[in-house]
Amino acid sequence: MSNLFDLSGRVVVVTGAGQGIGQALALGLAENGAALVCLDLNGEAAAATATTITRRGGAALGLPVDVRQSDQIDAAVQHTLAHFDRIDGLVNAAGITVRTPAVEFSPDDWRRVIDVNVVGTFLCTQAVGKHLVARRRGSVVNVASIAALAAMGRGNTAYTASKGGVAALTRELAVEWAPFGVRVNALAPCHIRTPLIEPILRDQDLLARLVSNIPLGRLGEPAELVGPTVFLLSDAASLVTGHVLAADGGFLAR
Ligand SMILES: NC(=O)c1ccc[n+]([C@@H]2O[C@H](COP(=O)([O-])OP(=O)(O)OC[C@H]3O[C@@H](n4cnc5c(N)ncnc54)[C@H](O)[C@@H]3O)[C@@H](O)[C@H]2O)c1
Repeated sequence: MSNLFDLSGRVVVVTGAGQGIGQALALGLAENGAALVCLDLNGEAAAATATTITRRGGAALGLPVDVRQSDQIDAAVQHTLAHFDRIDGLVNAAGITVRTPAVEFSPDDWRRVIDVNVVGTFLCTQAVGKHLVARRRGSVVNVASIAALAAMGRGNTAYTASKGGVAALTRELAVEWAPFGVRVNALAPCHIRTPLIEPILRDQDLLARLVSNIPLGRLGEPAELVGPTVFLLSDAASLVTGHVLAADGGFLAR
């Protein structure tokens, strides 16, 4: 019987695959049959994720890439095509945050968040997208956030603007590439237990307030984003494009 969610034989590139959500997605996609290309600014961490996959019997490459640098991204795409022959999917999980009250935010920090989260997502999607558009098939998943759709408060102006940009970019590319059979979607996770939110995890009062806004009453775990990502990358989502899928414990339903 055919399995709509099967990713066997698909080659998927994941950015930010060295830790946190990107790492969990790379491992989870490999368990669902995909061959993985793990990219991260931290090349050792990317290689370690790839090694974990190959030790488990999967196929993977780990490469150092700064998503702000188009020459590095292009080199990684060429390396991937030489190794695996093709690319079927891309998950843009590399991202950063800087939390500072708006009146104190330095322009350099604000630009850095936009540069990694929005420009980096665009440059990676453009580089892989050239190949997907030429093949007239493929799926891109951008890791946005609930911050793309709701205000976070607490010094998150750069982050919310960046994730709003990622959601808008997702819709724009979905429409531009639909004629070529390339789907582009995004995830909007709530707070997920990763190194990115360590300052929140250390502040028990803040953590309790954040969790009280999540109807399921808890933070998300990185592995809980594997299912939604498998769905969006797979044939099960063949009619789904331009969508921002909340994986947020009900946060946006309130
Ligand atoms: N953790 C959360 O609560 C949460 C919630 C919603 C969305 N997100 C988003 O999920 C994505 C992953 O977040 P996370 O929590 O796993 O963060 P994380 O800090 O644990 O991991 C991010 C990874 O991205 C890599 N990275 C950073 N800048 C890079 C660059 N310029 N080029 C290549 N790689 C780079 C880091 O080296 C790291 O391995 C981010 O886009 C984040 O905004 C996180």
